[in-house]
Amino acid sequence: MTAPPAPALEAAAAARVTLVLGAGDTGKSTLVARLAAALVRRGHSVAVVDADLGQSDVGPPTTVGLGRVRRPIERLDEVEVSDLEFLGVTSPATCLRETAEATARLVARALAEGCERVLVDTSGLVQGDLGRALKRVKIDRVRPDVVIALERAAECEPILRAYAGGSPALVRLPAAPTTPRSALARRRQRVQALETHLAGAVPVTLDLTRVPVRAVPARRGLAVVAVEGVLVGLDDRGGRTRGLGWVRSVDAGKARLTIETAVDGEAIAAVAIGRERYRAA
Ligand SMILES: Nc1ncnc2c1ncn2[C@@H]1O[C@H](COP(=O)(O)OP(=O)(O)OP(=O)(O)O)[C@@H](O)[C@H]1O
Ligand SMILES: [Mg+2]
Repeated sequence: MTAPPAPALEAAAAARVTLVLGAGDTGKSTLVARLAAALVRRGHSVAVVDADLGQSDVGPPTTVGLGRVRRPIERLDEVEVSDLEFLGVTSPATCLRETAEATARLVARALAEGCERVLVDTSGLVQGDLGRALKRVKIDRVRPDVVIALERAAECEPILRAYAGGSPALVRLPAAPTTPRSALARRRQRVQALETHLAGAVPVTLDLTRVPVRAVPARRGLAVVAVEGVLVGLDDRGGRTRGLGWVRSVDAGKARLTIETAVDGEAIAAVAIGRERYRAA
């Protein structure tokens, strides 16, 4: 495993929470994996929170994921998921605040569970009003000690300007020399990641008089109808999201919802209806 750049490692080694920022394909996830590996080697207990809803490495797309890093990893997708927050979309455009809050909750959980170093990976959406708003609300909710920005030019500066006062500490590094992937390649990667998460899915019929159903924030204003094919988040009795499924059919008369999922049907205590469609209805 290649060592991370020294300024990034020294900053992350001295911080409880480090958030990595940068446009698409600037090497954020690779840097987070390298930092995690180096910190584990130094004897720290390390967790990663993956706040990228589209190109997820920890947990499937449409979620923010938390995982403990128990050995020096090569890649972020080797991290075993310990907790998920389901947002039901692959872009945070319709749920900026909720994505930031979900990220902050998982960071707080990692710290509460005794992790000494929490690394937050983020999406490549940094430009324009949306990117700036998303990243500022995320930084403000998560309150990292350090923000590491990977920049090709000065594309993160409009975000960083708000933190010139010294908190969080800012580390600027040149972006990795990569060729940006096409939107199509990103979409294929998302579909593949969902297929992998749903491998071995079987039909599970839920009795809606017993199992409460809610809609994710990104469905605000949309009626919960015609949900066939839509992704769902499946919570256990403790309120933790165990994994995803997708809606096969709804029988409103009998109050039955049939989903396909690899999550144990007996463990499902609540369902969150997402917005992203997995299968055509
Ligand atoms: N320091 C580096 N040197 C050379 N190649 C790198 C480096 N960092 C990352 N890469 C390569 O660049 C590509 C993109 O890296 P990575 O997935 O880490 O970027 P990212 O910023 O997380 O992308 P995304 O915006 O999709 O989340 C990968 O193929 C990775 O192997
Ligand atoms: Mg990434």
